[in-house]
Amino acid sequence: MIAKISTKYKTILITGGAGFIGGNLVNELLLSSNSQIINVDKIGYASDMSKIEIIKKQLGADFQKRYELIKLNLKNKNVLEPILNKYQPDLIFNLAAESHVDKSIINPLDFIESNITGTFNLLESVKSYLKKFPDKNNNFKLIHISTDEVFGSLGKNGLFNENSQYKPNSPYSASKASSDHLVRAWQKTYKIPAIITNCSNNFGPWQYPEKLIPLTIIRACKLEPIKIYGDGENIRDWIYVLDHIDGLISVANYGSKGETYCIGSNNRISNNDLVEKICKILDKLKPHNKPHTKLINYVPDRPGHDYRYALDANFIKKSIGWESKFNFEETLKLTVEWYLNNQEWSKNLLKVK
Ligand SMILES: NC(=O)c1ccc[n+]([C@@H]2O[C@H](COP(=O)([O-])OP(=O)(O)OC[C@H]3O[C@@H](n4cnc5c(N)ncnc54)[C@H](O)[C@@H]3O)[C@@H](O)[C@H]2O)c1
Repeated sequence: MIAKISTKYKTILITGGAGFIGGNLVNELLLSSNSQIINVDKIGYASDMSKIEIIKKQLGADFQKRYELIKLNLKNKNVLEPILNKYQPDLIFNLAAESHVDKSIINPLDFIESNITGTFNLLESVKSYLKKFPDKNNNFKLIHISTDEVFGSLGKNGLFNENSQYKPNSPYSASKASSDHLVRAWQKTYKIPAIITNCSNNFGPWQYPEKLIPLTIIRACKLEPIKIYGDGENIRDWIYVLDHIDGLISVANYGSKGETYCIGSNNRISNNDLVEKICKILDKLKPHNKPHTKLINYVPDRPGHDYRYALDANFIKKSIGWESKFNFEETLKLTVEWYLNNQEWSKNLLKVK
């Protein structure tokens, strides 16, 4: 069901491959290709290697041959270039970033360093690498993974698309917007063969339990208050993580250098309705003497909280033929089941950090 990566990409470097989306991408590429996978990650609080450990057991000796983890912080200058020169990747997926809006409000500097300086260092390293190995230029692609949050907030109507104005409202989205601008400028000025993707909110197994869906499931399972910001009417456009991975692989295979693609799957729902859906699933899977919605607790709104995101994914469909394949209701249920069956995983993760 998920696209296979082109065999022309013999060596693929993934930054942020120990995170939620990056880890799912590492696993998918290990399982469905013969490419060598280099995972570059600083191994921060949101990193988790247990999903990759499962694939390690599954692949055995092939895993040792094809996979390398390099612990490195992209905010530091000159650390990536030797890695690029050594492994000579044909493709880079840049997913390394600090990704939690709430944390960006408390400590914006981490976001400036990882998301802006980190992307700058990556671009400079790629520039030097391609100068040193000009033969790589023809096939090489750098795919920079970004978010729909860079476009700011929509009112009741309208959709974001590739031509939407950048109007970020949080330190997180401003840092991602800045990194997109750097990628665009390095593509235009230095001809770095880069592509930007802007995706909507991801969900699925292995997501660090700070984001709305895993946090709601975990709190509800423990019969703790389920916190919702403001009046809960904020709307997000949700995409199952493997749908995003499928979109990223399709962009690597067929996307045009210098282009931007919006990846979304038309699952627009308010936080109130989403939390209610999760509660209803839990009422069936883990019944309690009261409906789980009774745990809902409204808390003061987040500063700069965007009202609505909604992506128009027509351009990626028309230009490279990608469209969302996963059903929202089914994948949400599967995600709730996964967190129910893996409560130890989240407990351990939260204990360590
Ligand atoms: N999660 C979403 O809903 C979503 C939606 C659209 C786009 N994105 C983007 O996708 C990417 C991945 O998101 P995620 O949800 O998997 O995030 P995550 O927080 O789960 O993982 C990010 C990973 O990047 C690593 N990292 C952070 N800063 C680094 C640095 N300076 N050097 C090296 N490694 C570093 C972290 O250690 C972590 O393992 C991010 O760029 C994010 O902006 C996420």
